[in-house]
Amino acid sequence: MKRPQVVETVSDLRTVVREWRRQGLSVAMVPTMGALHDGHVSLTRIALERADRCVVSIFVNPTQFAPTEDLDKYPRQLAADLDRLAEAGVQLAFTPTAAEMYPHGFDAKVAIGGPSAGLETDFRPTFFEGVATVVAKLFLQTLPDCAVFGEKDYQQLCVVKKLCRDLDIPIEIIGAPTVRDADGLAMSSRNAYLSPTELAVARQLNKILRHAARSLQSGASEQETLEKARQKILAAGFGAVDYVEARESDTLAPWQRDRDGRILVAARLGATRLIDNVEIVGI
Ligand code: PAJ
Repeated sequence: MKRPQVVETVSDLRTVVREWRRQGLSVAMVPTMGALHDGHVSLTRIALERADRCVVSIFVNPTQFAPTEDLDKYPRQLAADLDRLAEAGVQLAFTPTAAEMYPHGFDAKVAIGGPSAGLETDFRPTFFEGVATVVAKLFLQTLPDCAVFGEKDYQQLCVVKKLCRDLDIPIEIIGAPTVRDADGLAMSSRNAYLSPTELAVARQLNKILRHAARSLQSGASEQETLEKARQKILAAGFGAVDYVEARESDTLAPWQRDRDGRILVAARLGATRLIDNVEIVGI
């Protein structure tokens, strides 16, 4: 098992990618914040099916955390992450410092309208600006042919696709299915914060969403179905439901019954905030 090469500067990253290009190799990218689990690893597998080389960035991006959020607490475990990337056959890890990404005097902000409005933005107003800015930088630093993002963060996936579409960034964005545990809980670095009791509650979330999606697909009223889902999430033991909404799959505009959609949810469990989403097949 060969550990990936690790580079910390944009200049070293570009040197490696330039050499790959000289050899005629294609390049895929998987941006992450580390604390890698099977969900992240599945993205690298897809990346390596699509391209000859895979770059994984590991950077806990401060600009997407609000001052009240878990930036300092966010799990950091580089040695274990590199072991996982070695198992997956990833060739390069880019692990920049905050100063490398945001040198003194850095001012730029990338704002993507459209799918970034509402849902997460109602509760984390500057989140997608932080995500779009760092992803735009990572793309321009690496210049991959394609990049893989998880459907787990469905709104983020839509925002990244829109970023490339609107700014003519010639990188193909590939959406990857959510990896779950045997009970349907979406893998997340933040699951590490949950106590055993909270984990049992968290495992109800996807079941409730899948039930709601089946109801919508069999013609039940959208408002009643989503209200029932909200009540069930609270009854399962979540402290609050930030949102549970049905949206159109591509644009995240309000869902139309004859279109494919997604139910998206964010709910709080103790100090932890979980998100998930499921598909609704249009009828
Ligand atoms: P992070 O939360 O580390 O996630 C990195 C990538 O892994 C994202 O594309 C996310 O959707 C995907 N992912 C997470 N859990 C998954 C699961 N259970 N199944 C499949 N894919 C999963 O998302 C971010 O980091 C950041 O916002 C980032 C895009 C790196 C920008 O800082």
